[in-house]
Amino acid sequence: MTTFCGIELAHPIVNGSGTFDAIAARRAFGDALLERFPFAAFVSKTVTVEPRGGNPAPRLWETPAGLINSIGLPNKGLRGYLEQDLPKLAELPVPLIVNVMGFTREEVATLVDAFAQREEVAALELNVSCPNVETGLIMGADPSETAKLVERVRPLTTKPVIVKLTPNTTDVGAVAEAAEAAGADALSLINTLKGMALHPRGDGSPWLGGGTGGLSGPAVRAIALAQVREVASRCRLPIVGMGGVQTARHARDFLQAGATLVAVGTESFRDPLAAARIAAELGFETAASRSFSLQNTHR
Ligand SMILES: Cc1cc2nc3c(=O)[nH]c(=O)nc-3n(C[C@H](O)[C@H](O)[C@H](O)COP(=O)(O)O)c2cc1C
Repeated sequence: MTTFCGIELAHPIVNGSGTFDAIAARRAFGDALLERFPFAAFVSKTVTVEPRGGNPAPRLWETPAGLINSIGLPNKGLRGYLEQDLPKLAELPVPLIVNVMGFTREEVATLVDAFAQREEVAALELNVSCPNVETGLIMGADPSETAKLVERVRPLTTKPVIVKLTPNTTDVGAVAEAAEAAGADALSLINTLKGMALHPRGDGSPWLGGGTGGLSGPAVRAIALAQVREVASRCRLPIVGMGGVQTARHARDFLQAGATLVAVGTESFRDPLAAARIAAELGFETAASRSFSLQNTHR
């Protein structure tokens, strides 16, 4: 058992937002997904107030040790999420953490307020990797922007508020301290690092439809580990550490660097049961890890 912000979890491995589509997986695998769910809590993809179509294709570029994505946060918007996604995600056998993002503080407040009323939701994660259209500053790259955002939304809910920090800032520890002082309950890091790839035809144009994208996977792991250690040394809040985790050894590194939970993101695209494998290797038995070891025995 692991306790995170008062929530009891079977083990410390969760998913990174946007890297595991539980609704599509349920369609594909049926109730077997519920019986062998790989994560101890499920973090939903970012929800915005208005529906978003996402960025034009192409949206992915594979690097030698990672992935650049420019998905552009497609989602059904708050109303569509509440009506269509939330009832399905509430059927998952683990606590649900809803990840939200707004382009102004008021938009984030609207989202937090809406989810505060829903008992299906165990906690909220604020994705602060986007610009505040009113100030032009990336909300999570600037300590005072982060503090103002957390101060605005903190009184709206009694649920734990997790601030998902961006690595695209000069001093992640200062942003973490600002979030803590403003009332955050936990911190998660890292989100993706800004990156780009040029079109293979060689004319210097960007490959990704969105121009630039976010780099994730093994390529970012050393940076993520350093940032988790830095934040853990400057804050007392529980941390969800992530960035390139592929094995139990990597997860243990994050736990030793100061994380309470570890999220698996890009690795789930290669191996959808990666989280269960990692939890089993760490010594936690789950329904999914039991069937995982059975599969191994039969090999
Ligand atoms: C395809 C893809 C989509 C993502 N979508 C989101 C998202 O909607 N919201 C968010 O906060 N982070 C999103 N992320 C970031 C991940 O949750 C995670 O922070 C990051 O990828 C680092 O972990 P990893 O190296 O294990 O993937 C996304 C990452 C990928 C690769």
